[in-house]
Amino acid sequence: MTDIRNIVILTGAGISAESGIDTFRDAGGLWEQHKVEDVATPEAFARDPDLVLRFYDMRREAIQTKQTNPAHEALARLDEHWDGDLLIVTQNVDDLHERAGSQIGLEETRVLHMHGTHLNAWCTACDVRSPWRTTLIDRPACPECGERALRPDVVWFGEMPYEMERIYAALREADLFVSIGTSGAVYPAAGFVQEAKALGVPTLELNLEPSQGSAWFDEARHGPASALVPQWVDEVLSSD
Ligand code: APR
Repeated sequence: MTDIRNIVILTGAGISAESGIDTFRDAGGLWEQHKVEDVATPEAFARDPDLVLRFYDMRREAIQTKQTNPAHEALARLDEHWDGDLLIVTQNVDDLHERAGSQIGLEETRVLHMHGTHLNAWCTACDVRSPWRTTLIDRPACPECGERALRPDVVWFGEMPYEMERIYAALREADLFVSIGTSGAVYPAAGFVQEAKALGVPTLELNLEPSQGSAWFDEARHGPASALVPQWVDEVLSSD
């Protein structure tokens, strides 16, 4: 590990599972409780905005009651002590990476929410994203322009994820790509390991079980993130 300077980490719902936040595709997961086409597409929002807003109001309230777990805290420790480049690309819309201490006080954040965040509201009239901790069902006015045109700042199926250019640029500079707690079911995130491989970047999977893209990884460790991630971070920091 001695020659590793630049690390790109992809996280998914599995890293927040032990904090009590449902994953999407595991048994009893969100997409068993709700149909994607009813709550997570622009078409669903156009068809039944109340159903969609109520769903995200419920999620936004729920994540604010959850606490970080040792996996989030270990990545925050890595973030604090790693003097190489580090980018944590999360598919998660919770704020547990930040609450664990990642990226505090840095000009350019080292946590990138490629699928958006529950704790912002996005105004479709003035295109401004505002911090938001309460509900949207009552169509509150946009703090910026006053229009009642707020929607969840979450990337729905069929919409383009955020900051893709920055992610690919970081992969091009990476010496290691690590994937934590994701099933590899959703592109473009599921394709990052192939991109890394094509660039000759070593790849590591930390997941409860083999993901759909497991075969692409040079190394895979399976078990709960709360055990695997602190152990891996200790290895990296002790080799630094
Ligand atoms: N520790 C480590 N991994 C875990 C744990 C745990 N405690 N619990 C579950 N996992 C793993 C599961 O084995 C599974 O591979 O986390 C993964 C969760 O997969 P998904 O539920 O599919 O979540 P994710 O991969 O993040 O979904 C990707 O799909 O629905 C969309 O936009 C949504 O960002 C999301 C994207």
